[in-house]
Amino acid sequence: MPNALVAELTTPVPRYTSYPTAPHFHAGIGQAQYEAWLAELPADARISLYLHLPFCDRLCWFCGCHTKQVNRYAPIAHYLQALHAEISRIGALVGQRPVTAIHWGGGSPSMLAAADIASVTALLRRSFNVTDTVEFSVELDPSDMEPAKFDAWAAAGLTRASIGVQDFDPQVQAAINRLQSFDQTRTVVEAMRSRGVASINIDMLYGLPHQTVAGAIDTARQVVSLQPERIALFGYAHVPWIKKHQSMIDDKVLPDSQQRFAQATAAADVLRAAGYVNIGFDHFALPHDAMALAAAAGTLQRNFQGYTVDEHDALIGLGASAIGRLPQGYVQNIVATGEYERHALAGTGTVARGLAFTADDKLRGHAIERLMCDFRLSFAELRQRFGAAAEPVICEAVTFAMEDTKGLATLQPGTLVITDAGRPFVRTVAATFDAYLAQDSARYSKAI
Ligand SMILES: C[S@@+](CC[C@H](N)C(=O)[O-])C[C@H]1O[C@@H](n2cnc3c(N)ncnc32)[C@H](O)[C@@H]1O
Ligand code: SF4
Repeated sequence: MPNALVAELTTPVPRYTSYPTAPHFHAGIGQAQYEAWLAELPADARISLYLHLPFCDRLCWFCGCHTKQVNRYAPIAHYLQALHAEISRIGALVGQRPVTAIHWGGGSPSMLAAADIASVTALLRRSFNVTDTVEFSVELDPSDMEPAKFDAWAAAGLTRASIGVQDFDPQVQAAINRLQSFDQTRTVVEAMRSRGVASINIDMLYGLPHQTVAGAIDTARQVVSLQPERIALFGYAHVPWIKKHQSMIDDKVLPDSQQRFAQATAAADVLRAAGYVNIGFDHFALPHDAMALAAAAGTLQRNFQGYTVDEHDALIGLGASAIGRLPQGYVQNIVATGEYERHALAGTGTVARGLAFTADDKLRGHAIERLMCDFRLSFAELRQRFGAAAEPVICEAVTFAMEDTKGLATLQPGTLVITDAGRPFVRTVAATFDAYLAQDSARYSKAI
């Protein structure tokens, strides 16, 4: 793709892990509305739980997650009391509806002590109807791991470990304040596998300070040698005006749009050559993995954790800043950890904001999700789901394809199809269906 076009297409756009995006949530949706929505869920609604642990024992300068560095365990122990209170309250409302997936994110859930891994898991199983086939995943920072924790996560029933790598080049690691050797990473992969955890995901980043195409290729080769079932290849989102510690990264040593594109392409080539299948715009999976199968079947989904195969009816977020998605709309918990803890422990409700879907939100959200997951939008399917209300979006899709001079998308009978060249820019195509975007384009990171 010509350089000028890459530069033009890297205007900031949302990652579309939700639609409408989180900046549009507002305080008009609170705990009472959330609990009324939960009560309306059908008795057989499949539930996915997301638990957030906003603590780390190191602070990586690139990090965009909601977390805080702590050097003692006491703040985590206190937070867990609040989380226990929220789990009990929400569990009582969800009742016997089946929980089919549990995901721990952060921060670093790998900071949890072995005894706490066991006690929170036991509480989850007492408070919710956790199914025997539950998908149970956790984000692990290798630097936190030790044998007792490997044992505890395995005993809790973990089915997938997601491990942060980012890049193995020591110069890049120094610039992002994250020293992590290949051997340290391999130890975690082998420890989890030997304890029966069937699936491993590894996160890589491109666009980091001092990162080069050769370095991205080298990291991709080392990651492939560990044969994780899934790999996420994210573009580093540099937003120091939101995440103050990112200003520790010198802008002058950040790769530009062309270099970022070249790094992403080169790393992806290594992964594909090693037999991985491209999923959406930033994931890869071995062909037998459920994510590759879902992508082929058109059942891939997208939520706050990125691409997922977890087909749930409601996502329930637990912990500070956690976001839930119900059929009626989104809810988000209080972001500030101390305030979250106070409300959870006092029983005064933890929801700070949310958004009730309009019919147009549901229609556009579906169109954006299908484009992000399938790289195509079927007009017949849109009409079948939304009836005549789908026509304006179909019209926008046709107009987009006819006016597209950059080769991002084409029209095939009854379908808008993103071209191979357009795939890395799917967020930019999706953004044309975003009715809110004109209001807030300054907030987002680069599309590549
Ligand atoms: C919660 S973090 C990782 C879990 C664990 N704390 C660790 O570091 O290994 C999840 C992933 O988000 C990605 N991430 C974090 N900050 C990012 C940023 N600014 N831009 C893009 N991806 C980012 C990283 O790839 C990271 O592994
Ligand atoms: S990347 Fe992981 S370990 Fe590093 S600060 Fe972010 S959440 Fe913590």
